[in-house]
Amino acid sequence: MFVTIDIVSAVLSALAFLVWMPLAFLVERLSRRTVHWWLTAGLASLAAKSVATVMLLVTFGWRFAADQVLIEIPFVLLPAVIACLRSDRVMVVRLTAAASLLGFFHAFTVKAETPNVFGYGAMLFLAFLILRAWAIASPRVSRVVRMSAFVLAAVVLAASGFAYGSFTSRWPKRHTMAAAGPSHGHGDRRTAAPSVDLTTLHGPRTGIPDRTFTLTAAETAIKLTSGAPVAAWTFNAQVPGPELRVKQGDLVEVTLVNRLPKEGVTLHWHGLDVPNAEDGVAGLTQDAVRPGGTHIYRFRADRAGTYWYHTHQASSTAVVRGLFGAIVVERAEQAREEFDTVVMSHAWPVGDEPRPAFGAADTLTRKAVQPGTAVRLRLVNTGNNTVSDAEATTFALTGTPYRVAAIDGGEVREPGELRNLRLSLATGGRYDLTFTMPNGPVYLADLAAPGKGLLLSPDGTGTPETPVLSGDFDPAQYGRPAPTPFDASSRFDRQFTIVASDGVGFVDGSLDLIQAFNGRLYPDVPMQMVRKGDLVKMTLINRSRDNHPMHLHGHHALVMSANGRAVTGSPWWIDTLDLPPGTWFEIGFRADNPGLWMDHCHNLDHAAAGMLMHLGYEGVTTPFESGSATGNMPE
Ligand code: C2O
Ligand code: CU
Repeated sequence: MFVTIDIVSAVLSALAFLVWMPLAFLVERLSRRTVHWWLTAGLASLAAKSVATVMLLVTFGWRFAADQVLIEIPFVLLPAVIACLRSDRVMVVRLTAAASLLGFFHAFTVKAETPNVFGYGAMLFLAFLILRAWAIASPRVSRVVRMSAFVLAAVVLAASGFAYGSFTSRWPKRHTMAAAGPSHGHGDRRTAAPSVDLTTLHGPRTGIPDRTFTLTAAETAIKLTSGAPVAAWTFNAQVPGPELRVKQGDLVEVTLVNRLPKEGVTLHWHGLDVPNAEDGVAGLTQDAVRPGGTHIYRFRADRAGTYWYHTHQASSTAVVRGLFGAIVVERAEQAREEFDTVVMSHAWPVGDEPRPAFGAADTLTRKAVQPGTAVRLRLVNTGNNTVSDAEATTFALTGTPYRVAAIDGGEVREPGELRNLRLSLATGGRYDLTFTMPNGPVYLADLAAPGKGLLLSPDGTGTPETPVLSGDFDPAQYGRPAPTPFDASSRFDRQFTIVASDGVGFVDGSLDLIQAFNGRLYPDVPMQMVRKGDLVKMTLINRSRDNHPMHLHGHHALVMSANGRAVTGSPWWIDTLDLPPGTWFEIGFRADNPGLWMDHCHNLDHAAAGMLMHLGYEGVTTPFESGSATGNMPE
């Protein structure tokens, strides 16, 4: 719905431009009657555009329509109306044409946090001055000179705009994320935070680890269960990498060894709030481990739940090819379910199409499970896209009622029984499903791969049934509420608003369709600065036509509201939150883990194209650099 209105609205802007622009040139030479009809058409296109704006406003609210209202009405619609009312209209028609060009530009470019009313006003005023000068100068020069001057000016303007955009969007060859002073600390009179090198923010260096693992990255030719070959990058020659199972409270030590031919690699513990120096982001918390190198990570696994690890160096290619695996932290005191398994839904690069699979299984997997067995299926979405309407990462479970026992590792309080629902899981996110094995088959489907997936049955046979679904799982209204350490009515020390939007723009020097945060791309998205102990609120708004699964490192955030409605179920703690188009969320967290932290879209292609920002603690610095000259690619 949002996407449809947004596209229609953009197309109407383009249409208005196409109607007004030629009229600007011809208005002096056409008959009154023709001009009259032309103006009517121009006004009609803008009126239609306004209807789209009103629909956006009514259906999705001010956050999604503010700039349409504040920019397009005063700067486009108003001049158009004046043009229609005035008899001496040449000037106003031309001004409206210029305004419709701005409207066209606005519709197809990324959006800032707040509508840039001043900028558009200034541009329109400039257009007015140019048109005045033109009107004064033009009777004195011939038509040919006038037209050539116009064409020349247009070409120079377009070319310099292009060159400027292209040049300024180039990624620096070397770049350090510097936690500058407080970027949002208006009136903040506290003394400057002392400077801390993030390499000192590491896990326990001494102490005998409870569990040790070695993960060796290498290039391995693997075959999915269908026989489809993947030129994979693997940990310990398998995909997914080995499942690391530890107990809550364990001191974990993982040695990463890189045997890849050329590429650097790191290990990021997705969802585990480890100390900053153990976070594994190349060029931010460490240098990527070069071929032949090793790196040791040590941290305490103090939060139970389902997590995963993956490389955080050029992840849009490396994770897709297989550099990931599961890490499960079992509750120390609690007995494990008898049948407890991780299901990593992945999209493998097979030919041109991503091939959906559970782990390396792109065919149906059957397993025998005794009736009465307590089952826990730990779903992890390691793919690269989240599409909410029955695509890549939407699961369904048939054959038994079930519960979503945990979200992103956090237990849901008193989860109710569910059936016949679509379970859309954010890329990077996790749902633990639990049920007692019934006397018949239970089928876990990825709706994008009908007939594939996981079939549990008492005797290990059976055929999957097509899921009949009647709704979507909504974590905002699931389980029993419970007191939380803070809520929407708390006093927040810092508040940030992040608008995700898409449009035509420049990324690393070339013109493309870009996805941006507050109209900016890495490394230009301002770092969100906090201090240890701050209570932080983030408002996340998705005005783009794509889903953006947002992942903040190092912290778990409480979702306080979804699309303006308070969360009414169990406290909903996330590390990865999907933002479908046209949605907005308020999340809150306590800044209790000092460092420099990535906050990014986990659609890794988006991240690779600049959808990365950072949460920084004042005073924290990094000795690491990213950029093409350093070998560190932090996404
Ligand atoms: Cu799963 Cu920044 O990563
Ligand atoms: Cu995205």
